Amino acid sequence: MSQSIEHLFANNKTWSERMHSEDPEFFTRLVNQQSPEYLWIGCSDSRVPANQVIGLAPGEVFVHRNIANVVVHTDLNALSVIHYAVEILRVKHILIVGHYGCGGVKAAMNDNKTGLTDNWLRHIQDVRDRHIDRLERFTEPSERADRLCELNAMHQVVNVCQTSVLREAWQRGQGVTVHGWCYSLQDGLVRDLGVSSRTREEAVERYRDAVERIG
Ligand code: CO
Repeated sequence: MSQSIEHLFANNKTWSERMHSEDPEFFTRLVNQQSPEYLWIGCSDSRVPANQVIGLAPGEVFVHRNIANVVVHTDLNALSVIHYAVEILRVKHILIVGHYGCGGVKAAMNDNKTGLTDNWLRHIQDVRDRHIDRLERFTEPSERADRLCELNAMHQVVNVCQTSVLREAWQRGQGVTVHGWCYSLQDGLVRDLGVSSRTREEAVERYRDAVERIG
């Protein structure tokens, strides 16, 4: 067992040495404080690593990931991350990043039974059911699932904008923008879903317009 992860320690040592040789002050700087400007809320999928996708170094992006990038109002974990990012770290942008080909979204779309996770995916099925007429216009299953990936990310933008954390931040005049993106595993590019918002009202309005653009 311990043998099978030996290479991780070797990788770590190589990485630490490389970082140190490229920038001798790198670790010393990070010890003292983190001041990221971005909060990334993305999928746990191992193919969608936050820092690499947007080309940022350690210390530059605060990250929360869960299956299919869902933000619900009873999730104390996600809410605490958002609270800490907005009130303490004072991030300027929150990026909700879905991705095409998301296994969680596909399972939700097709009612696949996976066990415990079904309860979590139920949130995505609520989004699916709300837009079922629109989704059924797409006959190709992968295309339908991809539209749900977009709708889910857009929906989570509205959810984040409705949290007490964002509402209070905006009320006191703090400038923080919430964005919805979808990442493509095919070419490594993010697509902006056009729902960037700086108020609750703007989020609801832009969500409505973006849903229309889905087709
Ligand atoms: Co995923």
